[in-house]
Amino acid sequence: MRWNENATKNEPHNALPPPKFAGATLLARHVCGAGFSKENETGRNSKNFAPGRSTNVIRQAVKKRKLRVGIIGAGWPGQQHARAIAESAEAEVYACAEADRTRAEEFQSIFAPQKRYADYRDLLGDPGVDAVVICLPNFLHFPATLAALEASKHVLCEKPPTLNGPEMVLLREEAAKRGLVYFFSRQFRFSPAMRRARELIAEQRLGQIYFAEATWVRSRGIPLGVGGWFTEKARSGGGALIDIGIHALDAAWFLMGTPRPLSVSAAVFQNFPHLVKNAVFDVEDSAFAFVRFANGAVVQLKTSWAGNLTDEIPEGQIFGRELNNCTIYGNKATIRLRPLTLFEDVKGKLVDRALEPADDADSFVLQMQNFLEAIAGRAAPMNSAEQAVYLMEMLDAIYLSSATGREVPIARAGKTPA
Ligand SMILES: NC(=O)c1ccc[n+]([C@@H]2O[C@H](COP(=O)([O-])OP(=O)(O)OC[C@H]3O[C@@H](n4cnc5c(N)ncnc54)[C@H](O)[C@@H]3O)[C@@H](O)[C@H]2O)c1
Repeated sequence: MRWNENATKNEPHNALPPPKFAGATLLARHVCGAGFSKENETGRNSKNFAPGRSTNVIRQAVKKRKLRVGIIGAGWPGQQHARAIAESAEAEVYACAEADRTRAEEFQSIFAPQKRYADYRDLLGDPGVDAVVICLPNFLHFPATLAALEASKHVLCEKPPTLNGPEMVLLREEAAKRGLVYFFSRQFRFSPAMRRARELIAEQRLGQIYFAEATWVRSRGIPLGVGGWFTEKARSGGGALIDIGIHALDAAWFLMGTPRPLSVSAAVFQNFPHLVKNAVFDVEDSAFAFVRFANGAVVQLKTSWAGNLTDEIPEGQIFGRELNNCTIYGNKATIRLRPLTLFEDVKGKLVDRALEPADDADSFVLQMQNFLEAIAGRAAPMNSAEQAVYLMEMLDAIYLSSATGREVPIARAGKTPA
């Protein structure tokens, strides 16, 4: 259904209240960011990237024009990706699908896409669309990505890639079969601090990495989402872990070089139902996990939407006390992202060195650049389908470990070392 046709009748969310995010406005929502390295740009994941016939057909078709991208879901992340496309010389924001009329109109007024739809399925039926960026509520990531691949569109999908590992395995297979690019959004990987940290790690400044602390905690920051989906398991897949814990875990895992995950011991909790105004709240508001990797390294993850946090956690602007950080420990040095600092063993003495971020380049812009280069066949996708499988398997194992009260093995559907 196109907006300028019959749009208001069937749109699922038009009657819903505007998004509320514990006091946040739409554009003041999450700010995330992290890592990009030469080895990844030039082929570290190239074994996962096998352009096939559909890719080549699309490449030929778009050779003389810009790649046409459709944004699906026009909230904060949809607008960030659209901004990144608008900064690219090789792509355009060609279409948008958004069920909420106010949001659709705001998006139209900023990015002026040629085509506008109320439902994502109608956008996928538009043969003019070459690639899509999916920014829908979590439960729609899998069906929308699958439908997009079936419609021969390249896909960049917001986190979490899917609701679980088996769904992501299917998407990996589908994208590979069709020779299309699948890319999950993790703009943190491209942030200036992350890129600087990756440079130092590539130079072996940390030595052998054996431990990482991954943290994203808030004292009062339970999100709602349009229609209250963030706190409803059937539509979100989980709570703090799948929303912000996934960012923290991925930041540490990525800096460690994406080692193969082996097992998890974890506990998730729901302690703050009195802070939630949504009709349904059946997800965790905090999660704590210990992940073991095949190379012997381990990660400790702490994440919460709500907690009675102590005063060494700084007060944030929106969510009460808040800390989003990552520290990687090596036998030669430790690196912390915020503030970016190296703690280095110099002849047995520990020396603290404040570091400058790589530059101030925008992480959404760099991420989009990598996605577009992957479609053009000039680079491997940094945030690959294979890595998305491992990431979802780690989350599955965290929930399973919490439910069973035991350390659980990772499903190991990943085909190659991550
Ligand atoms: N990378 C990041 O930093 C970041 C930040 C925020 C959110 N996210 C992710 O982005 C996704 C969206 O989050 P959000 O905060 O924008 O949620 P939201 O609920 O605010 O927005 C989702 C949008 O999808 C639209 N929608 C729902 N069904 C639709 C359909 N069938 N067709 C077209 N539009 C439809 C809704 O109207 C709504 O505007 C989530 O998966 C979230 O995890 C990522």
